[in-house]
Amino acid sequence: MQPGVASLDPQGPAAQAIADLWWWMLWLGVAVFLIFAAALAAALFRPRSTDEETRERKPTRRWILWGGVVMPVVVLVFILGLTIRAMRATQTNVPPESLAVEIIGHQWWYEVRYPDEGVVTANELHIPVGRPIALSLTSADVIHSFWVPELGGKMDLLPERANTLILQADEPGTHLSRCAEFCGLQHTRMAMVVVAEPATNFDAWVADRRDAPPEPIDNAAAQGREVFMKADCARCHTIKGTNAAGLGGPDLTHLAGRSTLGAGTVPNTAGQMSRWITDPHAIKNGVKMPGTELTGEEMDALVAYLATLQ
Ligand code: CUA
Repeated sequence: MQPGVASLDPQGPAAQAIADLWWWMLWLGVAVFLIFAAALAAALFRPRSTDEETRERKPTRRWILWGGVVMPVVVLVFILGLTIRAMRATQTNVPPESLAVEIIGHQWWYEVRYPDEGVVTANELHIPVGRPIALSLTSADVIHSFWVPELGGKMDLLPERANTLILQADEPGTHLSRCAEFCGLQHTRMAMVVVAEPATNFDAWVADRRDAPPEPIDNAAAQGREVFMKADCARCHTIKGTNAAGLGGPDLTHLAGRSTLGAGTVPNTAGQMSRWITDPHAIKNGVKMPGTELTGEEMDALVAYLATLQ
């Protein structure tokens, strides 16, 4: 899932077009380099003649015409054609059958909304395989950039307007979107898990995510919910089915179903969760979330509650 490798492992039509262009440019570059290296070697190791003036003039002109004018024009026009083809493959016309998803960049996490499905989540993007996804990309603060190398090109998340990016995954798989535009202290820790899955799995995921999480059944979790509402958590976070409706931080309705905390910073485990809530700055310096001063018992209850948010 490293970007440098991932962009040469295309899993969708847009990424395929970009990878094809890349390979054409590589092999054309290699061919041109070899031709000139051979010509240079031939010139260097050729036996010297005594009467160079008369022998050289005509062949030199021919070399300049063919090697310096004709070949670059042919190669560049060819690459221009390939580039236009790749640009068409990564077009931004929204196909009617596409799935609309809104992604809003924040310092340093992603808000993800499925307006037609009524699902809101954070730092995870689930998409059905074989269907075009029309991403509407914006930012709540500074400029970020969305990039899933296996699925397509980069696109900026701008504060002032929405950019559209059409992606499609041809195969199921898990990918990583890393922010591709420097956006402050924790730019490198702004990752999103992208899960491409068969349509039935995707529909099941949507059905799960649409509803409020189950009511806490054991005492610790119920007490943890009280802690959540009393501490300032609810001011910034939303949990469907509760009074928590804050919009400043990630939606936590189905937090337990996500694999990481802090937008890909640490794994979503009970231990990391309590570390994160105690002092998120020790893990991800500069995040907007403040630390808390809870007793050990309160913290255990809170972590138990958050683990029920399936
Ligand atoms: Cu967001 Cu870099």
